[in-house]
Amino acid sequence: MATQNKKLQAWVDEMAALCQPDNIVWCDGSEKEWEDMWDIMVKGGTAKKLDEKKRPNSYYIRSVPADVARVEDRTYICSAKEEDAGPTNNWADPAEMRETLNGLFTGCMKGRTMYVIPFSMGPIGSDIAQIGVELSDSPYVVTNMHIMARVGDAVLDVLGEDGEFVPCVHTVGAPLAEGEVSDPWPCNPDNRYIVHYPETREIWSHGSGYGGNALLGKKCFALRIASTMGRDEGWMAEHMLILKLTNPEGEVKYVAGAFPSACGKTNLAMLTPTIPGWKVETIGDDIAWMKFGEDGQLYAINPEAGFFGVAPGTGMHTNENAMHSLASNSIFTNVAETDDGDVWWEEMTKEAPAHLTDWKGNDWTPDLDTPSAHPNARFTAPASQCPCIAEEWEDPKGVPISAILFGGRRASVVPLATEALDWNHGTFLGTIIASEMTAAAFGAIGQLRRDPMAMLPFCGYNMADYWGHWLKMGKKAGAKMPKVYYVNWFRKNEAGKFMWPGFGENSRVLKWVFERCAGTADAIETAIGNMPTLDGIDFSGLDMADEDIANLMRVDTEGWLSELDGIEEYYATFGDHLPAELTKQVQDLRKRLETSQEAVA
Ligand code: OXD
Ligand code: MN
Repeated sequence: MATQNKKLQAWVDEMAALCQPDNIVWCDGSEKEWEDMWDIMVKGGTAKKLDEKKRPNSYYIRSVPADVARVEDRTYICSAKEEDAGPTNNWADPAEMRETLNGLFTGCMKGRTMYVIPFSMGPIGSDIAQIGVELSDSPYVVTNMHIMARVGDAVLDVLGEDGEFVPCVHTVGAPLAEGEVSDPWPCNPDNRYIVHYPETREIWSHGSGYGGNALLGKKCFALRIASTMGRDEGWMAEHMLILKLTNPEGEVKYVAGAFPSACGKTNLAMLTPTIPGWKVETIGDDIAWMKFGEDGQLYAINPEAGFFGVAPGTGMHTNENAMHSLASNSIFTNVAETDDGDVWWEEMTKEAPAHLTDWKGNDWTPDLDTPSAHPNARFTAPASQCPCIAEEWEDPKGVPISAILFGGRRASVVPLATEALDWNHGTFLGTIIASEMTAAAFGAIGQLRRDPMAMLPFCGYNMADYWGHWLKMGKKAGAKMPKVYYVNWFRKNEAGKFMWPGFGENSRVLKWVFERCAGTADAIETAIGNMPTLDGIDFSGLDMADEDIANLMRVDTEGWLSELDGIEEYYATFGDHLPAELTKQVQDLRKRLETSQEAVA
C-alpha cells in the first residue's frame, strides 16, 4: 500500500530522485515479503536457508570482515551547535555533512531496489510508541526489521494523512553499473557515515549493512534520536532491559537495567532464578522508553519486537530462554555453520562440533586458536518466541518501573550491590558507570571506558545535559521515581577469577532489590550508598569462599577515593554543562569516604 501521508510520499519521492534506485517497493511486513527477500538473498549468495527440521524458517548470513560491528568513530551527531553534541559525541557541521551526504547518496541505489519500511517502535498505537520509516537498499535490513520492529500497513494506518514519522535513510553505498552483479554482502567501508540530525530528527546511514549501523530503528532512532525527543518532551529513552520479577507470594515488580553493550543484559532479562519460588519474565532486553503515567509513576515499554543478541556465549547453560527464542524464524549473522545445515558459536554447547565452516567461510576444527564465530556475531529472534516473555510485554501503557539497575564490567572497587541514597545519588551512580570493553563496538578490547548510563555511544545530545534531564525528571516525580541500584557481576579476586557466579544466581541480588522496593529488607548505610545487611543477600548453597563473599560486599574506601579523582577529571571535560548537583554528589561522597576512613583509623 502506498501512503495517504503527503509528507511521507514527498520524502520518498525526494529520496528516490536522489538515490536513483531501479525500483521502489513499499514493505507490508507480510510473510510473502519475508519469503521474497530471502529468495533474493539466497539466489544472490547472501544467505543460506538453514535445515528446515533443525531450525525452521531461519537463515544464515556472513558479512565481510570490514563490516562486523557498530562504527562509533563514523557515527555523528550533527546538531546545529557543536556544544549540543557534547564532548562524547562526534560532531560535524550539519550543512557540511548534508553536502557530503548529498554527494554520496546521489545515485547510491543504482541497480538496486529501494525498500520503504514503515515501522513502529513500540506496540502500534501506544502513547509511548513512535513511528519511523526506513528507506533501505538492503533486503537483509527488511527481514531484520520484520523481526526487530512492527512493520507494515498497520503503521501506515496509524500515520494517516498527517501523522509524524522519523525519516531514516540507509544505503549500503554500493551502486551497481548496468548488468553488474551485487556482492553477496555489499558495503562501502571507506565511506561509512551514521548520521543523526537531532533538531530535524533525521537519520542518514551510508556504507554499512551491519546491525545498529543499518537497522536504524534500534540505536539510531530508539536511542540517539529518541533521547533528544525525550529531553524535549519530558520522557526518557534508555539503553535498558526491562524485566518482571515475581516473588513466591505472587507479588510483582518491574525492574529496568542499564549495562554497557555485551555485559549480559539479554541474559539478565531472561534469567532463570536459582532461588526457589521466584520468577523472572522478560519485557525487553536492550531499550526502554519511559514516560510518566497518570499516577505520576514512570511507565516503560520495550520499543523493539525482537532480540538482536550477541551469539557467542549464549547456550543452554547460560541462557536457555534465548536459545528457545532463536529455535526458528530467526536470522544468524557471522556465526559458524555446521556440516548439517545448522549454526554454532562458542559456548553454544560445551563441546564444539568436530568440523565447522567459520564466519569467514573457512574450514574450522576445535584445535584452531581462532573462534569459529565472530565475537560480535548476532542472532535476530522474535521476542514473542521467548518462553519467558511476560504476557504484558506489548501492553501499550507500559509497565510501572520500581527499580533501575546500573552496572558494568568492573574487576575491582565496585561491590556486588549498592542502593542509591536518593534519585540524585542514583543519577550520579549512572554517570560513573565504566566498563571493560567488549567486541560490540570496534575498539581496544579489555580497556576500561566510561559509559554513563550505558549511553556513551547512544546519547543523541550533550551527555552532561542528558544528566541534567535525569535530575529534572527526578524533581518532577519526587518519591515516585524508581529506586536506583549499582550492581557488579564481574568483580575478580586476587587470583583473577570472577568471584560472583552470575547468570541465574543474579536472582539473589534481584530478590534484595525487590525486597528493598517492597520495604521488607534492611540495608546498611555506608559512604557509597545503602548496602545489603549480612543476610540481605542469600548466599546459601553457593560454592563461594567466605573471603570472596566479604570482598564482594566490602566498601573499598581507598579504591573509591582514587575513583573519585578520575570522576572529577571526567566531569571537568563537560565544562559548564555539568549540573551542579553532580559536583555536589562528588563532594558529598568524598566527605563520606574520608569520614569513614577516619572512623576506621
Ligand atoms: C547492542 C549494543 O547491539 O549495545 O545492543 O551494542
Ligand atoms: Mn545494546
